[in-house]
Amino acid sequence: SETGKGTYDHYMLKEINHQPTALDNTIQGRALASDGRVVLEDFPPGTFHDHRTVHLVGCGTSYHAAMYAEKLLTDGDIQADAYRASEYDLQAEVTDDTLVVGVTQSGETADTLSALRSAKESGATVVTVTNVVGSTAAREADNALFIRAGPEIGVAATKTFSSQVVSLALLSQCILSDIEDATAHENIQSLLNSLQALPDHIDRVLESTRAEAIARRYADEEAYFFIGRGMANAVAKEGALKFKEITYEHAEGFAAGELKHGPLALVTDRTPVFAVFTGDEEQDSKTLNNAREAKTRGAPVISVAPPDHDSIGFADAHLEVPDTNPEWLGLLANVQLQLLSYHAADQLDRPIDKPRNLAKSVTVE
Ligand code: G6P
Repeated sequence: SETGKGTYDHYMLKEINHQPTALDNTIQGRALASDGRVVLEDFPPGTFHDHRTVHLVGCGTSYHAAMYAEKLLTDGDIQADAYRASEYDLQAEVTDDTLVVGVTQSGETADTLSALRSAKESGATVVTVTNVVGSTAAREADNALFIRAGPEIGVAATKTFSSQVVSLALLSQCILSDIEDATAHENIQSLLNSLQALPDHIDRVLESTRAEAIARRYADEEAYFFIGRGMANAVAKEGALKFKEITYEHAEGFAAGELKHGPLALVTDRTPVFAVFTGDEEQDSKTLNNAREAKTRGAPVISVAPPDHDSIGFADAHLEVPDTNPEWLGLLANVQLQLLSYHAADQLDRPIDKPRNLAKSVTVE
């Protein structure tokens, strides 16, 4: 059933495995590959015509989905910035042509609600991307886009991240076609085609046993680092968050280029480095150099990349993601990292669905 654990040992594993179905629901009736259009029920064409700047606001995993979407929008030449909700008031300049997108699975996170309220007071239009119909965020926002991932019980967010990223990608297309009429439709057909294939691509990741093998091979090290650029930076941060939340091991996610500006001092042969690649040759060759700097200091390097990627001969291990549109590679890499964290935590016998000190939604600031 929707709410039982079924044959799985943990809700988290069930929810990881539920991602292809969750994404089918997310895109159902919205991504029309046959005629190359995105149709979002409450966002008719022209909705975003008057907006010039997009702020994406969220906490934890939702913030990482916001970072991912920031890259999708800026790649389309839309000015977009992702903010941690708790820092939003201190950092953002809001005007009445700002579109503020509040990303929140539960729709009840106090930091996010507070940021959205103050944005609204400053005259911004507020849209929330949420999983919960009737949540506070959905009621207070000017408009809501529901991610339709189904209930998520595990405290560590998994399927809702994927559904958020895809929902935000669809929203991004609507924003792009309203603001940037000329360029918007250039890549949309290939994006929509590869989106239809995404549930099958996730299934291929789920069938692979590499993450479990790597979790065993690198169990009980001193620290775990995750690096990437652009969308892969968002995935590196999300990979590290998941890892620390459920294994209680020290894990950090960095922009790959930042490794040499400090974190490298922590790198030893007991700190595996997971390098997430994007499929962009120029970016990837830089990330490969950063991974090389870690390997020179003795760190095992695990590449998260499509088959035949340049990093494979060099890395100590490889978590494979199907080759697809660069927009989705990060999402697929993230599924591999979800499995890695799950199996590492399982080995350590952690209470995976209810990690100590954490709550599914945090209603204080
Ligand atoms: C808590 C949870 C995280 C979640 C964050 C934001 O910290 O432990 O897993 O990502 O809240 O939650 P939201 O419901 O706003 O997405």
